Amino acid sequence: MNVCIIGTGYVGLVTGVCLAEIGNTVTCVDKIKEKINLLKNGDSPIYEPKLDEFLKRNIKDNKLEFTTDISNAIKKSEIIYICVGTPPLSNGQADLRYVEEAAYEIGKNINDMKIVINKSTVPIGSGDWVSMVILDSMEKNNNQNKNVCFSVVSNPEFLREGSAIDDTFFPDRIVIGSSSKKAVDKMLKLYEPIINQSFEWPDDKRLIPEGSKIPVVISDLTSAEMIKYAANSFLATKISFINEIANICEKVGADVSKVAEGIGLDKRIGPAFLNAGIGWGGSCFPKDVSALSNIAGEYGLSTQILNAVVNVNREQRLKITQKLQDELKIIKGKTIAVLGISFKPDTNDTREAPSIKIMNDLVNLGARVKAFDPIIKSSPDSLSGKVLLCGNAYEAVEDADLFILATEWVDFLRLDYVKIKKIMRNSVVIDGRNYLDKDNLEKIGFKYIGIGR
Ligand code: UGA
Repeated sequence: MNVCIIGTGYVGLVTGVCLAEIGNTVTCVDKIKEKINLLKNGDSPIYEPKLDEFLKRNIKDNKLEFTTDISNAIKKSEIIYICVGTPPLSNGQADLRYVEEAAYEIGKNINDMKIVINKSTVPIGSGDWVSMVILDSMEKNNNQNKNVCFSVVSNPEFLREGSAIDDTFFPDRIVIGSSSKKAVDKMLKLYEPIINQSFEWPDDKRLIPEGSKIPVVISDLTSAEMIKYAANSFLATKISFINEIANICEKVGADVSKVAEGIGLDKRIGPAFLNAGIGWGGSCFPKDVSALSNIAGEYGLSTQILNAVVNVNREQRLKITQKLQDELKIIKGKTIAVLGISFKPDTNDTREAPSIKIMNDLVNLGARVKAFDPIIKSSPDSLSGKVLLCGNAYEAVEDADLFILATEWVDFLRLDYVKIKKIMRNSVVIDGRNYLDKDNLEKIGFKYIGIGR
């Protein structure tokens, strides 16, 4: 099928590359010229495992192209994905300006039957609103194809940064929300290779055996939109829950890792998303939890659980500074190393990264902060000039009074901790992700401080 993807951010780019990989002809559109030029050369503006390889191969096979010409891309495609950003406004609501712009362009350029897919996370009810914007735009632009029909489908994505390609090819489920049977059938056809796990995979490490069936949930538009918010909010709830348990574990002398293992083996609970630490960040959970809370507010509902989930997460970041104060007493004049800046491993995304709040707090308390991340090579704006970004982990920990592990990059498991102990001023570690080998570090002579253990 001919597919147009509007917006080449995380979701758009990964969706476009994966749809090309399963045999479609995909045109990705973005208004940022520099980004499109980069992508045309097969260079990805984001770091995501496997993306580069898939990108280059599909461009070479003429299945994937990049352009700033939105009108032509819309005209030649039967399927149009809206994958633009919906960043949070200062009041927590999602900013729909880019979705509106995309829908307007679709209305202006629509020339035959189209399926318009909302992949961006949009407030409940936005599917119908997108239809309205398209119709209004057809009218305003005096589009001659007045009798052309289109269907809006909500097809939320569940991919995680750092494993986005695997998540797209091997999803737990696919959700399709629409009132049009024709549109649903078209979507089922589009995703058929993924639903039946019949695509070729470059290496033999398939996460789901060939020929298995991926469950598909077909619903109305509104329910599909709600599924996305409910899924992210539930996952954030699981993390805040285990972090609250971790805090109690610390007081009573229990180990939260063992507690998580013990409760996670109960099939009704499940082991995923029970890693206690410095809390959740990124571009999705913070935005989606507050947007859902806002949506509820519009109906006069107060979201007591969601509010608590956000509060626990906010406090969890402050716990690191408290642990530091307990250990070092005075932070002013101390050198603190932070290993890992991105909000999670295998991505260069620093949006709402817990490390940033922690580093800002430490700087404000008078510490000298040195940081290292395997991928991030320039300071995020909010840290610029305040933190010394180092070329490797050893440079960062040299002369430090304490180091904090803020992101669980696998590289940090392979460091020479005997050497690190020698070059640090004081050998204390706060493992913000319960990731390092506690016993080994203690054997080397480190004072190890974890979360909830
Ligand atoms: C999340 C969801 O997991 C995806 O399903 C969804 O598609 C995506 O949001 C989205 O809405 O676009 P993502 O934000 O990429 O994906 O990352 P996650 O792996 O979910 O991690 C989110 C945060 O939770 C990270 O800061 C991570 O460190 C933290 N986390 C995760 C924990 O603190 N503990 C855990 O056990 C798991």
